[in-house]
Amino acid sequence: MPVDLALGDFRKDDAATVVGWVQSAGEALNWASVPFLRLTPEILEEWHAQPGIVPCVGVLDGDVCAYGQVWEDHAEDEAELARIIVAPERRGQGVGRTFVALLAAEARRRGFRSIVVRVVRGERAAFSSYRGAGFVRMSPDEETRLNLDQDQDYVWMRLGPDGPSL
Ligand SMILES: CC(C)(COP(=O)(O)OP(=O)(O)OC[C@H]1O[C@@H](n2cnc3c(N)ncnc32)[C@H](O)[C@@H]1OP(=O)(O)O)[C@@H](O)C(=O)NCCC(=O)NCCS
Repeated sequence: MPVDLALGDFRKDDAATVVGWVQSAGEALNWASVPFLRLTPEILEEWHAQPGIVPCVGVLDGDVCAYGQVWEDHAEDEAELARIIVAPERRGQGVGRTFVALLAAEARRRGFRSIVVRVVRGERAAFSSYRGAGFVRMSPDEETRLNLDQDQDYVWMRLGPDGPSL
C-alpha cells in the first residue's frame, strides 16, 4: 500500500526525537557508527556541520517519522544516501521504502546521476527497503573495489535505470 509520506527539511528541534528512535546498541553502531551511550542529539549537529551532508526528514500525518541524509560528491557526480532510520512505531509499514525513494528523488533533483547506498551485511530490513525503493545490488567486483578502503565489508547498491519507485 502506498504511504502518503512527504520529504521535509530537518529542523534542529527534531534531533532529540530522531536519536530517541535508536532501539539498541547494535542499531546505534549500524546507524550512527557510535556506541549507544555516546549517541546524543549533538552528534546530529556534528554531522550536519560537515560539507556535502544534506539532512532530510519524512513527515506522515504531520509527524516526523523518518530521517536520512544525502551525501553529495560533486567530483564523482555521485550521491550516497545514508543514516536512514524510521521511528520504531512506524516500522514495517512501508515508510522506510517510501522514504528512501523520496531521498533518491531528492538526490536526482540535486543533479546526481549515480545514487548509491551501502548496507551492513545481514541487515535485511534495510536491504529490502532499498530494493523496494528501486536500488539494485552492485556486482561482486564493484563491491570488492568499494570495500577496499572501508572498515567493514558492506553490501553496495545503486539506483536502477527505472529510477526511484514512487
Ligand atoms: C531499515 C529501516 C529504515 C526500514 O524501515 P521500515 O519502515 O521498517 O521498512 P518498510 O516497512 O518500508 O519495509 C521494507 C522492506 O523491509 C522488510 N522488513 C521490514 N522490517 C523487517 C525486519 N525486521 N526483518 C526483515 N525484513 C523486514 C519489509 O518486509 C519490506 O520488504 P518487502 O518490500 O520485500 O516486503 C528500519 O528498520 C530502521 O529504522 N532500522 C533501524 C536503523 C537502521 O538500521 N538503518 C539502516 C542502517 S543505515
